[in-house]
Amino acid sequence: MLPPAGQSLNCSRDFFHTTESFFCLTFFCLRCCFVHARSCPLRLSLDKLRDVSSRLHKGLVQGLGKHSHHRAAVKMLPTFVRATPDGTEKGDFLALDLGGTNFRVLHVRVLQAEQKVVKMDSQICVVPKDMMTGATQQLFDHIASCLGDFIASQELKGQTLPLGFTFSFPCEQKEIDKSILIRWTKGFNCPGVEGRDVVTLLRDAVRRRGDYDIGSVAMVNDTVGTMMSCGYKDQSCEIGMIIGTGTNACYMEEMKNVKRVEGEDGRMCINTEWGGFGDDGSLRDIQTEFDQMVDKTSINPGVHIFEKMISGMYLGEIVRLLLLRLSEEKLLFKGQKSEVLQTPEIFQTKFISEIEEEDTGLDNARRILTQLDLQWDEADVRVVRLVCDTVSSRSARLCAAALATIANKMRLNRGLDRLQTTVGVDGTVYRKHPNFSEELQLTVRLLAPECSITFLVSEDGSGKGAAMVTAVAQRLALQSRLLDDSEEDEEEEEEDEETS
Ligand code: GLC
Repeated sequence: MLPPAGQSLNCSRDFFHTTESFFCLTFFCLRCCFVHARSCPLRLSLDKLRDVSSRLHKGLVQGLGKHSHHRAAVKMLPTFVRATPDGTEKGDFLALDLGGTNFRVLHVRVLQAEQKVVKMDSQICVVPKDMMTGATQQLFDHIASCLGDFIASQELKGQTLPLGFTFSFPCEQKEIDKSILIRWTKGFNCPGVEGRDVVTLLRDAVRRRGDYDIGSVAMVNDTVGTMMSCGYKDQSCEIGMIIGTGTNACYMEEMKNVKRVEGEDGRMCINTEWGGFGDDGSLRDIQTEFDQMVDKTSINPGVHIFEKMISGMYLGEIVRLLLLRLSEEKLLFKGQKSEVLQTPEIFQTKFISEIEEEDTGLDNARRILTQLDLQWDEADVRVVRLVCDTVSSRSARLCAAALATIANKMRLNRGLDRLQTTVGVDGTVYRKHPNFSEELQLTVRLLAPECSITFLVSEDGSGKGAAMVTAVAQRLALQSRLLDDSEEDEEEEEEDEETS
């Protein structure tokens, strides 16, 4: 990844081998300077990250407030998960996972005696792209049909198993089995689902089929599933974070700060939906022209601005737009006007990881540029790698700023000098990028020096974690209820904001 902002770039030593290489290096370094200048707005200093973190902190407090949450960009959704697993959970569960790279159906067994979650089996079902933006009934019938086929193949027909539904979109959870979609994010946009209860839509679709039944349903965000699946192994896991197709985090917040839910004691897991940070314009100063373009051409302009600067669904596009701009400015590909670079989504996010691989990265870059039919030279290859570095590094540093905000808040909530906690993490960007996790962890240490954070990569949080949430939910969740907004009390909004 790029050296931190402010430090100079080191050109690779292998360039010095021949005189020709020397000129090549000089030319490359010159180009680097221009490229560096062009991509400067994408490089965020530690001070800027601290500033971003303090803005996010305000957003978190606003989202938690009883009277301020309506207009909050960071939704801070109560999940009704009041406890991490305690090891007494057990049973057989079905799990659905919609909203990540694939749609999956799973059969999971939680064994109490061995404190183990066993994935019995799972199946990936394709959700065709047109279905992601098509009619509601079509989508839910498809989900019910995949589930039905799976139940039949597992010989589970006739059993009524509880189901954990990992539905990775912002939902207002009224109870653990009543979850109103606030809005679609990522590649989904089926009209008519927003404002409706997803559990009812699923149950209706299962009923329409009529050949199997499901038991109690627990709705789970993928961040929560991730935290819970890690929490089974490490009981100090109180944060779940996803950096994949989208990005988001959840954490255990003090009930007294969760103003929208009855009760003052203990903690509740809050799904922050930090992807929405900036939807109120609060990140305008760090949004580059490339971010604005990505947002404008997305299926949901103005929505999930922070996510669009960070997550796997958008990183490839940011790189493509930056490469396009550099080639228009004759800093790349000899300035050839390439139709390829004008094609949306042609530069996949996985290329970034491949190009940044330490040993094979430059070869991968040569292969990818050739596949894309671009006329490149050696300096182009290095510039492309530099661009990938810049974009992925910004993503890691922004995520770090957001995670540090949460960790710092948890520490202050608890009045601790030092917070020791574990973050359960998942998502293709975090898992697959060669140095994303390292840069993220390093930056978090700088931004939250009083927090010792252990990172635990989740083992199938969306599948096993969903089963775990369902199991814990059966034990605990119905203990609280969401207060109606109409249940006004005397406290003022300002008071919300002061005390959180
Ligand atoms: C999007 C969704 C959020 C999910 C995240 C990661 O931001 O709104 O619910 O957790 O993607 O999948």
